[in-house]
Amino acid sequence: MKKILLLGAGGFVGSHLTIELLKRGGFSLTALDLTHEKLDEGLRRAAQFEIEDTRAEDTSGAINRMVSNIQYVVLDILASEQEAELKSLISEHDTIVNLVAVCNPALYVSDPIYTFDVGFRANLKVFDICAELDKRLIQFSTSEVYGKSPSIYVKDQAFHFNEEESDLIMGPINRHRWIYATGKQLLERIIHAYGIKHDFRYSVIRPFNYIGEMIDYLPSQKEGSPRVFSHFMDALLNSRPMKLVNGGHQKRCYTYIKDATEAHVRIIEREEACDKEIFNVGTNDNETSIRNFAYRMREIYDQEFRLEGQELSPIVDVSGKEFYGEGYDDIDRRLLDNSK
Ligand code: UGA
Repeated sequence: MKKILLLGAGGFVGSHLTIELLKRGGFSLTALDLTHEKLDEGLRRAAQFEIEDTRAEDTSGAINRMVSNIQYVVLDILASEQEAELKSLISEHDTIVNLVAVCNPALYVSDPIYTFDVGFRANLKVFDICAELDKRLIQFSTSEVYGKSPSIYVKDQAFHFNEEESDLIMGPINRHRWIYATGKQLLERIIHAYGIKHDFRYSVIRPFNYIGEMIDYLPSQKEGSPRVFSHFMDALLNSRPMKLVNGGHQKRCYTYIKDATEAHVRIIEREEACDKEIFNVGTNDNETSIRNFAYRMREIYDQEFRLEGQELSPIVDVSGKEFYGEGYDDIDRRLLDNSK
């Protein structure tokens, strides 16, 4: 039975992936994250959504059975005193799936050093151990490595980012938003170089704006600034303004988390076909400007969820600096070549 170690298994993408692998069976899984609560809550909730989808009776029994088939490990990859434990864990598994990251633009701006420490330093440590022990690595990267769309320089308004051909266009150093993308980009370059030089076995995944159950927290319930869906949802629930950053003309393509998870599982399962490959994962079918996204969410909320007498949120404009602080920059459009 293949032994898989999932690092960052308690997050949005990790918990959906872990539960899907469990559901399919045939793997022995170890799930690692920073805290037990994060793992437990993430995996239990993802299991619950899976089971509700299949309309199984005895939901809580089924969730308990599912979750009891995983080994949990609580460990901070950044902590040097836990490095020996990390190495020993990696040595016991065949495939390492690394989802560790702070996937949150507000943090890239407010704490660029922490973003780099987690996104680059911690991930480099995992890579180094995998290279030393000759373990297959599935590295989650980001669509953000492409940076800005070339349509800001040339007239191609529908430029599709391609894994092998596209240039990676980052903003200036004083827009520290780009520290996340450049850190992940350097990591990809190192992994690629080891692939050529030492036949290191890897696949890199670049997610393009996934959406779905458990995407983020609501800012009114937990301090911080999650991604746009949760900001808009929080505003709607509390009748507060939905804020469009810099007019909301920037566009994103949204992909449902379970469709993305299907792609992740295929990449894990097909080792030979996916070796030394980078994969864009996403769809262009749901492209929307953030402005349209706000109006659409508000319309659906109004029709389906608004309580009687509840005031509908106004939609207002704010600057990037006002919303995120100094150092924010944005990606205008993010279409992908997903032919692979
Ligand atoms: C983020 C991450 O940084 C990426 O690494 C990740 O790949 C991506 O999400 C993802 O989910 O795949 P971004 O697309 O910029 O990148 O994520 P959001 O924070 O959701 O922002 C989307 C757009 O909405 C941005 O233009 C932002 O300025 C805008 N926004 C955000 C608003 O207009 N209002 C808000 O309240 C929040």
